[in-house]
Amino acid sequence: MDAVELAPESAIRYTSRATSLQPGLSYAESLVPFVGTRTLMKFFVDTADVEEIRDLAATGLLDGVTTNPSLVAKSGRDVFEVLAEICDLVEGPVSGEVTAIEHDGMVTEGRRLRDIADNVMVKVPLTWEGLKACRTLNQAGIQVNVTLCFSPTQALFAAKAGATVVSPFVGRLDDISQDGMALIQDIRTIFDNYEPLTTEILVASIRHPMHVVEAARIGADICTVPPQVMRSLASHPLTDKGLDAFLADWGRTGQNILEQ
Ligand code: E4P
Repeated sequence: MDAVELAPESAIRYTSRATSLQPGLSYAESLVPFVGTRTLMKFFVDTADVEEIRDLAATGLLDGVTTNPSLVAKSGRDVFEVLAEICDLVEGPVSGEVTAIEHDGMVTEGRRLRDIADNVMVKVPLTWEGLKACRTLNQAGIQVNVTLCFSPTQALFAAKAGATVVSPFVGRLDDISQDGMALIQDIRTIFDNYEPLTTEILVASIRHPMHVVEAARIGADICTVPPQVMRSLASHPLTDKGLDAFLADWGRTGQNILEQ
């Protein structure tokens, strides 16, 4: 698929897609507006394990981190200490979740979490109280991740409340025989109807690489991925097999690139 700029002064890009070519249409007539997200999908890691985050951050491919109360509990660490360490390791947003369930408590906790570092994104649950807290925190200039989203209407309200990101949980929907990725498609379609809506879709509760592939096909903004799934995304057995064969053949030549 080749993308071409028709008018340099225009922000609209056009592309020729095989699926759009119609008999009798010229190349120019077959051009359709390029549909794509503004930036490449971002990758967050979903963990409070500092060593995992350090290792993945070293790749330069990590755009942020999400945690939740269960992940902090699993780390066995103090929430303030562990979030501070994570915020030192990554430049991007680090979600830390409130545990109060009413507005005032959520806002107070959110402000405390935000005091840890500038890149803390406060996570609130998708309840009425959470939506109210989202609005308050957003008006105070604090980035908010509205989490535990399971329906398109919940996502709409999160956007309306000023969420920086909304987190639909695909794996937990799949777990109860509902189509998690269909929810992502619904939210993408709805959000795209209302530009310049800026709330980003953060695909959460990812269980396997195909969730990531589908999220990218749909044009989700961010995937938050467990460390083991993140590592699997760049691996393929044929890559390993191919590399082994190349190096075995190369070894037989007796050559060394640095000694030629
Ligand atoms: C996202 O922010 C959540 O922490 C996470 O993706 C939940 O995933 P789970 O359903 O695997 O617990």
